[in-house]
Amino acid sequence: MTVLRTRLDTAAPAFTAARDAMLAKLAEIDAEHAKALAGGGPHYVDRHRGRGKLLARERVELLLDPDSPFLELSPLAAWGSDYPVGASVVTGVGVVAGTECVVIANDPTVRGGASNPWTGRKTFRAMEIAERNRLPLINLVESGGADLPSQSEIFIPGGRLFRDLTRFSAAGIPTIAVVFGNSTAGGAYVPGMSDHVVMVRERSKVFLGGPPLVKMATGEESDDESLGGAEMHARTSGLADHLAADEHDALRTARRIVARLNRTRPDPPADPDPPRCDPEDLVGVVPADLKEPFDPREVIARIADGSEFDEFKPSYGPSLVTGWARLHGYPVGVLANAQGVLFSAESQKAAQFIQLANRADTPLIFLHNTTGYMVGREYEQGGIIKHGAMMINAVSNSTVPHLSVLVGASYGAGHYGMCGRAYDPRFLFAWPSAKSAVMGPQQLAGVLSIVARQSAAAKGRDYSEEQDAAMREMVENRIEAESLPLFLSGRVYDDGVIDPRDTRTVLGMCLSAVHNAPVRGADGFGVFRM
Ligand code: COA
Repeated sequence: MTVLRTRLDTAAPAFTAARDAMLAKLAEIDAEHAKALAGGGPHYVDRHRGRGKLLARERVELLLDPDSPFLELSPLAAWGSDYPVGASVVTGVGVVAGTECVVIANDPTVRGGASNPWTGRKTFRAMEIAERNRLPLINLVESGGADLPSQSEIFIPGGRLFRDLTRFSAAGIPTIAVVFGNSTAGGAYVPGMSDHVVMVRERSKVFLGGPPLVKMATGEESDDESLGGAEMHARTSGLADHLAADEHDALRTARRIVARLNRTRPDPPADPDPPRCDPEDLVGVVPADLKEPFDPREVIARIADGSEFDEFKPSYGPSLVTGWARLHGYPVGVLANAQGVLFSAESQKAAQFIQLANRADTPLIFLHNTTGYMVGREYEQGGIIKHGAMMINAVSNSTVPHLSVLVGASYGAGHYGMCGRAYDPRFLFAWPSAKSAVMGPQQLAGVLSIVARQSAAAKGRDYSEEQDAAMREMVENRIEAESLPLFLSGRVYDDGVIDPRDTRTVLGMCLSAVHNAPVRGADGFGVFRM
């Protein structure tokens, strides 16, 4: 077993500069997290409390085992959009009665908890995590249903929610709905399609159409309780399996339901060694300027148990570090970019390493800092496309769980080869230092400039250098802004932006979650182009 030793000089000005830059970015991210935590703001929060109701996060906290952690997902969803940060829903993985579950809790203080397109994306991502990792799904429901002004963007895709709930049930993934308030129209199918339903006396309102709509449709006079109250559903319609006296009772009942699911999972590994290198230093590993290389072993040394790492092919394809470690006791294979560029040797090494991990049923961790595959005549002639294709084939057809962390750059097809979001990592988190786009902003603006210049020449037109400079600057600024973690997290292209110092904890929780489903390597891959 090899123990990694750090070469990081924490007294050097470069370390201080990197740490200061990272802490400044973290403060910016924290300010955005605070917006999500504030929900709909003091007015709506006070009104909600005044009605004797618990906030979404309080419901989650009471549902989970005391003092157990909650891995919140996509807290920055909807950032940069017209909708409030957080997308009016709280999602995450937590432990209920000893069982890891995915929890989805509407935030009724944000526009009545109504679902906008970002709520949809965030909810579906949480459901995907439940499905792939076979985690029971608990919905804490109180929502005005579809956000009516944006109905055209959610009505048709949003229908998948109800389809997926019943498919989960068919696949043996338990689904539980606890209804705290409104769950009307399409929302009524959340309890309708769930395996277990809890409603709260005088609080739950579950009907296809409320009194005004019924009056319009049939002329019948009705009231909330007789149309969709908890008592009615528990005694008459049979939609509610449990009638809770209040919110606390409902959450206690949900915990009892989970306790009776009779789910077993292997115990987590006992007493793993902490890293020998100090995880606090992770804030100073990535230089503020991503063009400066850094050694990803400095990251591995601070997340792996005992900082132990057995490197695979260390002298071959050195710009990709591959090797075996344990993290919170779980065996993992690690792929981490070193010098940024992926050449043919790195790509082939990755393809081989991913196959080995599949043979050994070992989950893979991808630490991204890549500017993509190498371009240029020599490399094209050397077969960089087919070698990159080997790596992408391996990552696409690998069936062991993949966890991705964007620590630095993640550009171009390199993002794909390193298991970017479209390649179905079980979880994908970003550090505040990450940047991801089709290519770097300067390169992209430069390519556009060359294309525009050639196009003008072909048409025999003059090309204005002044306009070119303005266009480049505008494009560079836009691409830079679109490649930042806040923007990408806002679009739910990751599962959250994390403090680098939390990486080991977050990955440990992910590894625990993924072991709820069988961890089995692939029996075969696509045809490797030689
Ligand atoms: N779409 C868009 N905005 C909505 C909304 C929806 N479905 N439901 C509520 N909101 C907005 C309200 O307009 C209000 O905005 P404002 O404060 O800026 O005026 C805010 O959210 C809070 O709503 P309010 O009605 O004051 O809250 P409440 O807690 O008293 O009632 C509901 C919440 C959900 C019971 C009530 O708003 C409602 O019945 N909404 C419509 C439900 C519906 O029929 N949805 C269609 C289902 S497909």
